[in-house]
Amino acid sequence: MIGQTGPVMGGADHNLGELIAVGRTSEVFAYGTDSVVKVLRPGVPGHWATLEARFTTEVRAGGLSTPEVRGVVDVDGRPGVVFERIVGPSMWQVIMDRPDDAAALGRELASVHQEIQRAGVPSGIPDLVARLCNKILDVDRLSEENRQEACSIVGTLPRGAALLHGDLHPGNVLMHAQGPVVIDWFDSVIGHPVADVVRSSILLRRPSTGGTPPHLPGATPELLDVIHASYAGEFAGLLEQLELDIRLWEPVLAAGRMAEGVSGEEASLAALWASRSEEQSSSPLLLLN
Ligand SMILES: Nc1ncnc2c1ncn2[C@@H]1O[C@H](COP(=O)(O)OP(=O)(O)OP(=O)(O)O)[C@@H](O)[C@H]1O
Ligand SMILES: [Mg+2]
Repeated sequence: MIGQTGPVMGGADHNLGELIAVGRTSEVFAYGTDSVVKVLRPGVPGHWATLEARFTTEVRAGGLSTPEVRGVVDVDGRPGVVFERIVGPSMWQVIMDRPDDAAALGRELASVHQEIQRAGVPSGIPDLVARLCNKILDVDRLSEENRQEACSIVGTLPRGAALLHGDLHPGNVLMHAQGPVVIDWFDSVIGHPVADVVRSSILLRRPSTGGTPPHLPGATPELLDVIHASYAGEFAGLLEQLELDIRLWEPVLAAGRMAEGVSGEEASLAALWASRSEEQSSSPLLLLN
């Protein structure tokens, strides 16, 4: 059924239940008795649903804990991916409910990430270098010269051959009674593990202009600092050996993130992009030891 978009005949889809979450590109609804459907927002390219279904299926076949994909359907003219419904709060919800456990949960996020990196490489997942470059070439806020420069930096970095989630943060881990389940695999790629740790680190940092990252609603700067330090601390050994690479991954991943157009992050991302020509890096990833 995956990859086939089945139009819902006769109007309303009676499987469609309550709205569970609203994201940047999609809305998630309950679906039938034990599923959810992630429906793309109007204007989002329709084939993204098929891609997310395909990537999630491949990753699950490789043995990682992720929801079963149950098909791609048409909901009022919009494509949606039907997933097994995972019962349990997100790791972010747990952190908000129990902020005293934030450090332990940051370490648990790192352990989930290490498990992904140790998993084999599933087939059918795109290459980081090509996908990141495509994203960067779409960023209006950078000049054409800057976009070309970012892509050529990407080309100089070690390629690696690990599975990367591409958007791993505590909102994309659901805490099922039997252990964490990772969702939202649309951005998954094959590439160097350090790139994915840097991407998560960027997602966990306090925005330079204050405010709250939209993917971590209700976060305070202090809480983000605790989670970031405990998460990144678990990768200290790996990061120490690759200091030079980190100093290049940060600006190019920030450039790629600009393509997502998340409001409130502009200043932090611009500063990271500018850091490519600084002699001294102030990255929190390089201040771990
Ligand atoms: N399989 C699932 N079972 C239960 N709840 C889910 C499942 N998939 C998603 N959800 C709920 O929907 C929320 C958003 O899901 P997801 O992270 O896939 O989309 P998103 O981050 O909104 O996507 P995007 O930002 O790309 O639009 C999750 O935090 C969770 O509450
Ligand atoms: Mg998400």
